Parts: sequence; C-alpha cells; structure tokens
Amino acid sequence: MRVFLAGATGAIGRRLTPKLQEAGHAVTAMTRSQASAADLRERGVAAVVCDVFDAAAVRGAMAEAQPEVVVHELTALPERIDMRDMEVFDATNRVRTKGTRVLLDAALAAGARRFVAQSIAFAYQPRRGAEPCDEEAPLYTAAALPFGGAVKAVGELERTVTGTPGIEGLALRYGWLYGPHTHWANGGGIAAAVRAQHFPIIGEGTGVYSFIQVDDAADATVAAVERGAPGVYNVVDDAPAPVHEWLPLYARAIGAPEPPQVSEIRGEDLAGPQVVERAIAMRGALNAKAKRELGWQPRYASWRDGFATCAG
Ligand SMILES: NC(=O)c1ccc[n+]([C@@H]2O[C@H](COP(=O)([O-])OP(=O)(O)OC[C@H]3O[C@@H](n4cnc5c(N)ncnc54)[C@H](OP(=O)(O)O)[C@@H]3O)[C@@H](O)[C@H]2O)c1
Repeated sequence: MRVFLAGATGAIGRRLTPKLQEAGHAVTAMTRSQASAADLRERGVAAVVCDVFDAAAVRGAMAEAQPEVVVHELTALPERIDMRDMEVFDATNRVRTKGTRVLLDAALAAGARRFVAQSIAFAYQPRRGAEPCDEEAPLYTAAALPFGGAVKAVGELERTVTGTPGIEGLALRYGWLYGPHTHWANGGGIAAAVRAQHFPIIGEGTGVYSFIQVDDAADATVAAVERGAPGVYNVVDDAPAPVHEWLPLYARAIGAPEPPQVSEIRGEDLAGPQVVERAIAMRGALNAKAKRELGWQPRYASWRDGFATCAG
C-alpha cells in the first residue's frame, strides 16, 4: 500500500519506516528537515519537507503521494518533562489537536481510506489499587495542568480520528515507550534522572505503569495500517507493574544506582503533585483488544526482558 508517514524521524517513526518497507509498503515520509529528507531518500523512502501547520503544503504533499493510509506519529516533547512547568505539553498538544486536523483534512482530500494516529495509554483516570483498564475506562480529563491539557488534547485527537466520516480512523494508545532513542534509553531524560537518583520511589510506589518497547509499538502500527476495525487500542505489553517493582530493575538494566525511596510530601517538593499522583495511583492498561483485532503480539511481553534494550 501507499503509506504517508508524518513523524518518520521520531522515536517510533524511525523504527516504523523500515518495518513498513519490509512489509512491502511504499512510504512517503514527512519531516521539517532537508537533512532528514536526504537521509530518508538514501534509504529508499520518498521524503517531503513540510511543517504540519502549513496546511496548504501538507495538502499538496498528500495530493502528490496519493496515500491509501496516513500515519500520524508527530509529537513535540522536550527531552526532560518537568510536570511543574504548566506549558510543558503545549507544543505537543497543538500538534495533537490542530496538527491532526490538518493531516486528516489532507488525507480526506487525497482520497486516503485509513488514518492511524498516536495516542497514549497512561491518560486514564487514576485510582490507587485499581485493576488495569481496557479502552472503555474514562480518561482523566479533570486533571490539573499541565497533564490535564495533554489528556484533553489526546481526547480531541481520538475523537477527530475515530469520528470523521469517510475514513477509517484508528488511535493507538501507546504505553510508556522505552527502547532505543526514547527518553528511557541511556542518554535520554528519564535514564539521566534515574542515574542521578532524581527519579525516586515515591510513597509505596503503588502507581502502575504499562510499558511498550518501541519496536513492538512499531509492529502494532504496521498491523493497524493493514487491518483492524476503526477505534482506539491500548498498545502495551502484558505486564502492568507498580513503580516499586519495575524501577529498581530498570535502574539495574541501565547500570544506575538503586533508586531512593521518599515520602509523598518529599516527592511533591521534588517533582510536584502530578508526579506524586502518578507514582501512587496511576492505572495500567490491557492489550487484549489490540491482540485480538490487530493480530499483534509484543515480542517483549514484559519490560523485565525489554529494559535491556535501553542499555546501549
Ligand atoms: N507513549 C510514549 O511514552 C511516548 C510517545 C511519543 C514520544 N515519547 C517520548 O518522547 C521522546 C521524543 O519522541 P520523538 O522522538 O518521537 O519526538 P520528537 O523528536 O519530538 O519527534 C516527533 C516527530 O514529530 C515531527 N514533528 C514535530 N513537530 C512537527 C511539525 N510541526 N511539523 C512536522 N513534523 C513535526 C518530527 O519531525 P522532524 O523533526 O523531522 O520535522 C518527528 O518526526 C521520545 O524519546 C519518547 O521517549 C513517548
């Protein structure tokens, strides 16, 4: 199939591009950088240089590429996410709201049949001790800023993608994305924080994370390009786990010292109330729907095996 990929140079996009090619798809990749476009072309990818907020350019690029499927992997996150900075998600929120609209309108105008977009599996309403959620669980739209803004933006993205007539829309709620070129890889922001012992276990560390290795996220995305009913899908591994369980093993995997444990009050001083809430009450997510409908299985069923891919 002809696939138009917005975000080919990002954490997921750089793994997704060769996987789409290997699956026999013809990829047109979008980037803002001439250098990245040249690099992509060397690897047999048709590259177009444009900014998602230049609606006319995006429309022109898609009209030229005539994609059957459009994939949206754009984010604009800083390397270190400070949850006390009320504007930390603003750029990504804009990409997820206005940017999605631009891509979807261009996809419709070019006659694309299907649209697959990135969302997150950690925007569910937190509840300490609760079971991991399926896709029906409510999103945490009542969260305070800055996270509340991010949740509202992914909610809007999902409604736009799955609720627009004339195109099959799928939103993939990726779990905490780890592996090469992510914040969790050695050299990334989270790895640096853990190494500096700035990522402690807060309280009892009961908040539950659902992870996904970046190649597994890319494989699920190839599957979503090819099959599966429109709708939202959690793309997570099989092993939701509380912080007190995974954090010491993650630290060991990247060669960092044992993470310290601090009280909730100290955690709030260090990182703000939203980090504390996440650390004690976040819920994990379930992947049964993605396995069933996309015919997908994560290679790293557990972060216990996958964290080694952050070490390089
Ligand atoms: N579920 C998760 O946990 C999750 C999901 C996504 C990201 N992350 C984390 O965030 C970090 C950064 O991720 P990333 O590398 O994917 O993000 P990134 O470096 O910000 O890149 C995202 C992609 O979006 C494109 N882009 C951004 N703004 C654009 C615009 N205005 N117009 C056109 N393209 C635009 C970039 O293209 P160009 O720069 O080439 O133009 C790039 O391909 C990762 O290390 C990862 O850990 C986590």
